Amino acid sequence: MKLLLIGAGNMGGAMLASLAGKYEITVVEVSQRRRDELARLYPEVRVVGEIPPLDGYVVILAIKPQSLESLQTRGEAEALISILAGTPLQRLREKISARAYIRAMPNIAALKGKAVTSVTGDAAFREEALAILSSIGTAIWLESERQLDIATGIGGSAPAWMALVAEALADGAVNLGLPREVSYRFVAALMDGMGALLADERPAELKDKVMSPGGTTAAGYAVLEEKGVRSAFIEAQEACYRRARELAGEE
Ligand SMILES: NC(=O)c1ccc[n+]([C@@H]2O[C@H](COP(=O)([O-])OP(=O)(O)OC[C@H]3O[C@@H](n4cnc5c(N)ncnc54)[C@H](OP(=O)(O)O)[C@@H]3O)[C@@H](O)[C@H]2O)c1
Repeated sequence: MKLLLIGAGNMGGAMLASLAGKYEITVVEVSQRRRDELARLYPEVRVVGEIPPLDGYVVILAIKPQSLESLQTRGEAEALISILAGTPLQRLREKISARAYIRAMPNIAALKGKAVTSVTGDAAFREEALAILSSIGTAIWLESERQLDIATGIGGSAPAWMALVAEALADGAVNLGLPREVSYRFVAALMDGMGALLADERPAELKDKVMSPGGTTAAGYAVLEEKGVRSAFIEAQEACYRRARELAGEE
């Protein structure tokens, strides 16, 4: 399977880091400086400045949604996998010719091969799309574009929210006198450990194991509930979903 990655900025670049070496890839980038950088980083990848005819390629589209309007392509791709936030399948079908259409929402952990990617679209290309996107982490098939817009929060945007949580936890430790770098080492290891535990345990079960009656965890937990951390996360996802629909022109 030949991949054509159009756009290798923050997200396309992160995906490339995990895909390079696993697939035959051609990357299209407009900026000469970025092309030189990519050619140096990934000698096994072909880097070009113009989009070749799409025939025979599985295209991964990773440009900004607002750049889609001016994008010009020729030929028919084997499949199009778009990671453009808020850009419906229908819009992609009108703009780019392909045998199958997939929408995917990865996150920045693709850089480490640990993205979680929501995937939806034409069922005929489901297995191939999941295989490609599993090489950048965990890929989860969803039943509709509505579900994908919902998952934009918990998948694509949540790394920024988790970064806020990580920074706030470290700030709390620094406030009490722990060195900044030591605090960051704690939060990195903490998030890693939580991921491993949550793979086979529900959050509430985990919490109950840590929180003993009248103990230290319970004291801190009460403060988090009082300050509305739970409802802040629920409302953040509502705001994110609304924004995804606005971007799709559906509100
Ligand atoms: N960042 C995330 O965490 C994240 C997560 C999930 C999904 N996404 C989606 O990923 C997409 C890209 O986001 P990003 O943050 O990676 O943006 P970005 O850093 O601006 O990357 C877009 C890249 O595409 C290049 N480009 C634009 N038009 C092109 C064309 N016609 N041919 C080839 N290359 C072209 C841009 O080059 P120039 O800068 O030279 O124009 C840039 O390098 C967006 O649609 C976003 O919704 C991002």
